[in-house]
Amino acid sequence: MSLEEMLEKEDLGIEILHPGGLEITKDLAELCGINEKSKVFDVACGTGESACFLAETFECEIVGVDASPIMVEKAKKKAKERGLEGKTTFILADAHKLSFPDNTFDVVISECTLCLLNKEAALREMVRVVKPNGCVGIHDVAWKENTPRELKLKLKDIEGEEPETIEGWKRLFEKVGLVDVVVVDKSHLIPEWMKEMRRQVGLWGELKIFLNILKKEGPKGLKNAWESMKIFESSHTGYVIVVGRKPSKE
Ligand SMILES: C[S@@+](CC[C@H](N)C(=O)[O-])C[C@H]1O[C@@H](n2cnc3c(N)ncnc32)[C@H](O)[C@@H]1O
Repeated sequence: MSLEEMLEKEDLGIEILHPGGLEITKDLAELCGINEKSKVFDVACGTGESACFLAETFECEIVGVDASPIMVEKAKKKAKERGLEGKTTFILADAHKLSFPDNTFDVVISECTLCLLNKEAALREMVRVVKPNGCVGIHDVAWKENTPRELKLKLKDIEGEEPETIEGWKRLFEKVGLVDVVVVDKSHLIPEWMKEMRRQVGLWGELKIFLNILKKEGPKGLKNAWESMKIFESSHTGYVIVVGRKPSKE
């Protein structure tokens, strides 16, 4: 069971499912050049916290998609409560198969999700729906260069996550046709995030999570959750912002 599945099911009150909180969302938005004229697309928007924040802060129009009906409902409810229904739209969709026409959005972002997906396929979809000269930007987990292969395989096995190294993310962005690719190392955010999550979930929340895993997946599930936490706390795990531009047609 992944972290977001646990948080989603237990409803532990955690609204932002990525390191760096809304500060990294703001950094990403600024690097992508989001402003009040932008039509923005947030792939795997989770609870809609970032989308609402961007609509409020930059006054942009924003569409969010997520594959979880629970997340989409949370996002819609949040937007309504914050009076953002005119600026935001949330839709249930798979990031690998988007129904939007080519060249629809000024900026396409995805926060802390690409490493869970078929990275290249999902990124190609993001590039397809952004307009020429528009930016595609993500932040995501990044392995340090010296990470042992066994550790990478273990995270893939336990969580289904396959992060790249910072250079690997840059190469992937270039491979799908993006240019002027910029990377910003944000690895310092990982240890802070682990502490913050613990603080927000609290002891009772942690206990609930562990009991839930034990009930559903038995001792092996508990061992996996423990190992996954240790991998995130290890010195091999970093974090990065990556932004590229879709070239103009000529
Ligand atoms: C780590 S959370 C990040 C959520 C949000 N972007 C944030 O930063 O708070 C990953 C999100 O990806 C969504 N997700 C997983 N697979 C997906 C897919 N194939 N298409 C769209 N969303 C997906 C999950 O439902 C979850 O909301």
